[in-house]
Order: sequence, then structure tokens, then C-alpha cells
Amino acid sequence: MGSGIAQVAAAAGFETRLREISSELAAQARARIERSLAVGVEKKKVTPADRDAALGRLSFGTDLAAVATCDLIIEAVVEDLSAKSALWVALDAQAPAHTIFATNTSSLTVTTMAAGSGRPDRMIGLHFFNPVPVMALVEVVRTIMTSEDTIQRATDFVHRLGKHPIAARDTSGFVVNRLLVPYMLDAIRAVEQDVASVEDIDTGMRLGAGHPMGPLTLLDFVGLDTTLRIAEIMFTEYRETRFAPPPLLRQMVTAGLYGRKSGRGFYDYSVDPPRVVPLR
Ligand code: CAA
Repeated sequence: MGSGIAQVAAAAGFETRLREISSELAAQARARIERSLAVGVEKKKVTPADRDAALGRLSFGTDLAAVATCDLIIEAVVEDLSAKSALWVALDAQAPAHTIFATNTSSLTVTTMAAGSGRPDRMIGLHFFNPVPVMALVEVVRTIMTSEDTIQRATDFVHRLGKHPIAARDTSGFVVNRLLVPYMLDAIRAVEQDVASVEDIDTGMRLGAGHPMGPLTLLDFVGLDTTLRIAEIMFTEYRETRFAPPPLLRQMVTAGLYGRKSGRGFYDYSVDPPRVVPLR
């Protein structure tokens, strides 16, 4: 998601620095952005001149000091509280006082990060959706410590990206994942209970409810490993069974069936079009 966020920031005219933990990952991020901008040009959503200008505003590297001097830092590291918190502590030591810290967490509470960040009034959640260049929404998540000025500046930034902000309080999953995660987990339970085939569950929600993707295709798209992690965090937070990861989700993640990113989840992506592989 980090590369998607960097792409939309650069495309909106912001000088953008993308920091990765290795030069290989930084090179992959650059390649991903170049591919996505090329698709944008192909679909006539981006002009070649705007593509070149966006790429010209982007720099890639592994040096934390290079991002520490930005006015706004958006973190999109792995969904692990200690990894995120450690990063904010390191950045607080280097960043100017006015810099806003924004986390793209999807299920961890922003408050915990804010409390250890050294600047709780300037910490906020900016939660983007996949694929970032296409999805219009950003959840702007405030904690009880976030200042009005920070909320205003972060909301203005979202508007300048051409995205639509919604304001949410800091509760695990915010608005969208609070509703979306139980829905996706229920689709897995429907597979477990043999309610219908994978294809028919997906077709049902596409044609019967007008969703752009069925829930099992969406799970493969988001990543089964990512969804398991989010569900575990939300279940720990709420202790409500609707957030409890179903056994089949755990088994698939243990087996390395993460969805599109690993080549196979509910569907096999080594063939075009992807087809369902029977699980048992
Ligand atoms: N740059 C700019 N525009 C692009 C683009 C790119 N790289 N790629 C596609 N587009 C544009 C297309 O031109 C098209 O625009 P129009 O509708 O104006 O024609 C639009 O985006 C859709 O693109 P496509 O027609 O190529 O693709 P599609 O119709 O098959 O839709 C999809 C693909 C947008 C992914 C759609 O299937 C969808 O919305 N799926 C659901 C995605 C979703 O739910 N995401 C949220 C996941 S949850 C999450 O992210 C949060 C979390 O914490 C887990």
C-alpha cells in the first residue's frame, strides 16, 4: 500500500520520498509505481506528461533521515504494533515539531502508537484502500489526543489527493473494516459449511448485491494472511465471535495460500482467467 500512497501523493503534486527497508524493496516499489502509472496512461486516466511529472517528484531509498524532514509522514509498515511504534520513536527524534505522523494501520489502535510517539497531538490515522490509485476513500482517524489543527491539515491533504475523507474515531477497524471483515469471514464460513461453491458465493454477491468483486475474490485480493492478522487483532480487541478467524482461514494461511500475492488462495492465479482449486 505504501507505493500506492506514494504514487497518489506524487501525482497530486507533492514532493514525495518513499523509504523502504532494503534497496531491493525500494526498487520493487519504483517498478510497481511505474507499472501502475503506465496502466493509468493506458486507461487514459493519466497523461504521459503527468506520469513523468509524478515520477519526477518521487525519490526512493532506505535512509530514514530522508523522510524524517517531511511535513507529513505516512507509515504503511507490517501490521505489527511494536514495529510501528519503534519506527515512530525513531522518527520523533529526527522530525521537526510541525511534522504530522500518520499511520495507515487498518486494525491496530492509533492511540497506542500516539501514546509512545512523543507527539500524541500530531498523530493521526490515514487509512487508504486497495488499489490506492483507484479507491476514492480515506478514513481520517482521530484519537482523543489528536489536535484540531492536525485533523484539519490531514483532512486538507486527503482532499488535495483528490480522495474523499470520512472522519472516524479510533476504534479497531474504524468504519470500513468493522463492517467488511465480518462479511469476508462469513463468506469463508459459508465455504466451510458448503453453502455453495466458491464461484457461486462470489457471483451471488456480485450480481445480487452489486459488489465489484465477490467476497472470496476480495479475500484473495486483500491477502488471506493480511485478513487473518486483521481479524486476530479485531477479535482480541472486541472478543466478539463475528471477528473470530474461521479455521479454514488459518489452514489456508498455514499452507501458504495467501491469495494473489502467493499465486493461489481460493483461486489459482497461474491460469488466466483464475480458476477455483478444490480445497478438499
Ligand atoms: N491508475 C488510474 N486509474 C486506474 C488504474 C490506475 N493504475 N487502474 C484502473 N483505473 C481506473 C479505471 O480506468 C476504471 O475507471 P472508470 O471506472 O472511470 O472506467 C477504474 O479504475 C476501475 O478499473 P478497471 O475497470 O480496470 O477494473 P475493474 O472494473 O475490474 O475494478 C477494482 C477493479 C477497482 C479493484 C474493483 O474490482 C473493486 O473495486 N474491487 C473491490 C476493491 C475493494 O473492496 N478494496 C478494498 C479492500 S479492503 C482494504 O483495502 C482495506 C484494508 O484494510 C484491508
